[in-house]
Amino acid sequence: MATPDAVPVDYDSNPDRYRSGARLSKAYSQANLYARVASHLTSADLVLDVGCAEGVLREAMPDKRVIGLDMAITFLRNHPEPRVQASATAIPFQDNTFDAVTTLNMLYHLADPTQALREAKRVLKPGGVLVASTIARSDSPEFSAYRERPPSPFDAEEAPQVVRTVFDDVEVDAWDAPLITLPTAESIRDYLLARRVAEEAAQRAARELAVPLTVTKRGAVLIARKPA
Ligand SMILES: C[S@@+](CC[C@H](N)C(=O)[O-])C[C@H]1O[C@@H](n2cnc3c(N)ncnc32)[C@H](O)[C@@H]1O
Repeated sequence: MATPDAVPVDYDSNPDRYRSGARLSKAYSQANLYARVASHLTSADLVLDVGCAEGVLREAMPDKRVIGLDMAITFLRNHPEPRVQASATAIPFQDNTFDAVTTLNMLYHLADPTQALREAKRVLKPGGVLVASTIARSDSPEFSAYRERPPSPFDAEEAPQVVRTVFDDVEVDAWDAPLITLPTAESIRDYLLARRVAEEAAQRAARELAVPLTVTKRGAVLIARKPA
């Protein structure tokens, strides 16, 4: 298979696309990714959240010391301090600093996610944990007639192998379940627009699909440990 293209970033030019998707997930999802991630971090104190956006993970873990790192200044401004503007591929911290590093729904933005995984491993303390999450190419099959989903460099189907090129010890916590119920045609349209579906196709889906629409979510959290 040819190397897939990285998913382009638009967070500074169009921050409301991500915000709208986050709002819809919060309103209509029966699952909470960030609570799930927090359940894998119970023994961590100091956490670096790489690709932190506006602090959705930090909100779910008020008892932890979470440092936010992101490239997008528009989002980072709204993340509580401490926070740092940087790339996942050049993390501005010393080796062996963090109990945990998280990379949630962001490694598909990198042409070579292993660069960021190596950086995460470098800044983890011995015995520290990396938690990465991503969605599957086969996510939301209910919308397959309305969008093409090209492979990304970090789809859930291959993500465990990618993480295993950097970490030896990798666990997979995957899901494949009807986790979102969209109640109205408008919510279907907005959900698809937030996922970069073209306006015309999003409008067509909103006209054609019966509501309430239950959407099958597929993805995974990967938990990797640096040797103690
Ligand atoms: C889809 S959002 C995910 C945000 C949040 N982690 C979540 O789960 O909702 C991807 C985030 O990764 C950030 N990002 C993309 N490429 C990055 C890079 N090379 N280094 C740091 N952050 C990056 C974006 O600015 C954006 O905030």
